[in-house]
Amino acid sequence: MPLHLGVNIDHVATLRQARYRTMPGAHNVEPSILQAALEAEAAGAHSITVHLRADRRHIVDEDVFLLRREIGTLLNLEMGNTREILDIALRVKPDFVCMVPENREEVTTEGGLDVAGQRAALASSVAALEAGGTRVSMFIDPDLEQVRASAEVGASMIELHTGTFANELGEKRTAEALRLKAAAELARQLGLQVNAGHGLTTKNLPELFIVPNLVELNIGHSIVARSVFIGLRAAVREMLEAMQAYPNP
Ligand code: PXP
Repeated sequence: MPLHLGVNIDHVATLRQARYRTMPGAHNVEPSILQAALEAEAAGAHSITVHLRADRRHIVDEDVFLLRREIGTLLNLEMGNTREILDIALRVKPDFVCMVPENREEVTTEGGLDVAGQRAALASSVAALEAGGTRVSMFIDPDLEQVRASAEVGASMIELHTGTFANELGEKRTAEALRLKAAAELARQLGLQVNAGHGLTTKNLPELFIVPNLVELNIGHSIVARSVFIGLRAAVREMLEAMQAYPNP
């Protein structure tokens, strides 16, 4: 199976909110979140990812309901494990939820989720979501304790946080790729689907490809940034082309 691409379109909403934050019915103004999702799908994206943050800084509630109704591929909702967002997720019933840590001050998701430190709260949300037909993933650093804890709370997937890999260069990047490899190997043994994301670009992907068992990459910033110059469809196609180098077993 080819490596799947989930296109994160949060930053299309970032651009919209830069102008229209205070106007109600933000889904009617440009750039359209739905159009972005449909363009990504037309270019071959396998799923559409959005993060509904507590502060609604980019994606807002209506976006999530609109995407749920209109997209033709799969919807992946990133969320912090709070009662408010969980209630929305249970109503939206996305295909996937990716549980992420969330801190108001951060510019983007900074570290992986501490699954081991909040097992009970996560297990209860995972059970509620999976009962509603949503498959749940834990966004974690490549730490073996967190991989084990993800299996123990009932998640069916992990998403390995590739932020450190993306930010480092040379030997440090290679060392992080090896940590990602070990985490991916353990996850597979435990029956978890392995996804990865954060900071990935067409340039750093080749060095990630020593990590086995990857099923889906979630990529946002670099695709949206590239789309300013070549358009969203072309940017998604470019990423899919770079992903073809992933060695399929
Ligand atoms: N995966 C998760 C869980 C994320 O929080 C993010 C950032 O929103 C991404 C993937 C995408 O990261 P980037 O925008 O750097 O490609």
